[in-house]
Amino acid sequence: MYQVLYRKYRPKIFDDVVGQPQVTVTLKNELNRSRVSHAYLFTGSRGTGKTSCAKILSKAINCLSPINGNPCCECDICRGIDNGTITDVVEIDAASNNGVDNIRDLIEESAFTPNITKYRVYIIDEVHMLSMGAFNALLKTLEEPPKHIVFILATTEIHKIPATILSRCQRLDFHRIKTEDLSLRLKFIADKENISLTDEAAILIASVSDGCARDALSLLDQCIGRNDNVSTDIVRETAGIASKESIFNITDAIFEKDTSKAIKVIGELYSSSKDMAKLCEELAAHFRAIMLIKTMKNPRELIIMTDNDFNNTVNQSKKFTLEDVVYYINSLQDTYGRMSRSIDKRIEMEMTIIKLCAPELNDTTASILSRISKLELAVKNGVKVTNNTLESLKNQSDNISNKNVDESKIEDTTSNLTDDDKLKKLRENARLMGDWQEVIEQIKNVSPVVSAAFEGTKAYISGNYLLIDTRLDITFEMLRKSANKETIRQCIENVTGKKYKLGPYRTKEELAAEEDPLADLKDKINNLGDVSLEVVSPE
Ligand SMILES: Nc1ncnc2c1ncn2[C@@H]1O[C@H](COP(=O)(O)OP(=O)(O)OP(=O)(O)O)[C@@H](O)[C@H]1O
Ligand SMILES: [Mg+2]
Ligand SMILES: [Zn+2]
Repeated sequence: MYQVLYRKYRPKIFDDVVGQPQVTVTLKNELNRSRVSHAYLFTGSRGTGKTSCAKILSKAINCLSPINGNPCCECDICRGIDNGTITDVVEIDAASNNGVDNIRDLIEESAFTPNITKYRVYIIDEVHMLSMGAFNALLKTLEEPPKHIVFILATTEIHKIPATILSRCQRLDFHRIKTEDLSLRLKFIADKENISLTDEAAILIASVSDGCARDALSLLDQCIGRNDNVSTDIVRETAGIASKESIFNITDAIFEKDTSKAIKVIGELYSSSKDMAKLCEELAAHFRAIMLIKTMKNPRELIIMTDNDFNNTVNQSKKFTLEDVVYYINSLQDTYGRMSRSIDKRIEMEMTIIKLCAPELNDTTASILSRISKLELAVKNGVKVTNNTLESLKNQSDNISNKNVDESKIEDTTSNLTDDDKLKKLRENARLMGDWQEVIEQIKNVSPVVSAAFEGTKAYISGNYLLIDTRLDITFEMLRKSANKETIRQCIENVTGKKYKLGPYRTKEELAAEEDPLADLKDKINNLGDVSLEVVSPE
């Protein structure tokens, strides 16, 4: 009988578990020193190894000849636990046994010493599903556990576990598995199964699975069902995702404002049963890559794609302004959110693409900003001004003048601050502004694009100046534009009741003098795992 891959390759010892050293190394070390807790809590996202590790742990603490913290998997105990003939290791699915009576039964039984093993182990999966009464019953035993009992609780939803339970357990956090780690595991399994799996295909499967090993192995299974030679094309067909080529084509069409070309590509994808929500997600991910390329010094390591695709993306990124890209990402995210409620995802996708191709259909501030930046670029490149362009320029400026104030009334604040000494003086007396986040929230209501540029920045107040500390080019750019400045000043006034002059806390020159300004940030992002920067978040 065919056994699905994710069951067949369930890790049997800690060393088989990939990407979770914070759990496996810790447990092995403790077991080596014969330290066994009476209650463990395994938490983290789906398909990352919680149940597998619970089983391994139940073997390791009972194994007759453990090897360096791992169970031997050879002795009678290990084998009995593996084939389910030893009744001292009990697995309970709290999703279907969540009542107080289920827990009472368990507790009564736990008073007896185990039949064969040293410890009787209760693995309670999906423990967040227990009723309040059941939690309370469990709590008493957790407070004074019999010596021969070990509880292993597992859950994806740690926030639903009462604090009283949490404080009595040793908590171990499972992380989403990094794309590199997961793709190596896929290669390993494909090798054992005599399947050819290209490196790119393995990376693609791992990245679509979003760090979930079970999903990755299921997808590999389905791909193998189609073809023994698993290539990126097979993966794309199986997972219903668009080819990179289609993504590049749609992006080009958006740049060329070629609505019919974009709609045609979408139509083709639709008729080959591609999922429109996934397409939306992929497009957003593509524009995220473009955004990183435009804002970071060394974006390569944060962008998971082949070198060839990366080079094409770099070329494509030169066509767009940052305002455009932020606007596209925002629109695509909105669309993705709407899709779950919409009857026809295709129509949602098409409407959005039409809007992206023709931002004049859209009167959000984000879209207007993106149009202004296009005009600026055109002017900079020496566009020929005809009556038509003048007319259109006038329309554009009429559009924003309502949201804008008379330029002449605002002091040019940033230019005052180019004087280094003055800025240094201001900084000496500066204090951190506590309400800055609130200001950013306010800006978000007026313009998501402008607020995005200020996300994560700090602001300082010094006299009647408000100095914004940033390392991102886009923020400097936003600060240069009077329309943006006025929006920001207005929002500051709403929050503080006072009008401030705006300026940067550190000049670009000062920042440039430092080392790679984003190295630190990149390190942090990398340590969080490769999914933490996803721009698309389904509801
Ligand atoms: N860290 C891992 N290393 C290797 N394989 C893994 C890992 N995590 C999961 N798997 C694979 O996925 C399958 C499911 O894993 P497991 O049941 O342990 O996940 P889980 O965290 O308990 O998921 P859930 O939260 O959905 O219960 C395993 O049989 C195994 O094939
Ligand atoms: Mg599980
Ligand atoms: Zn053993």
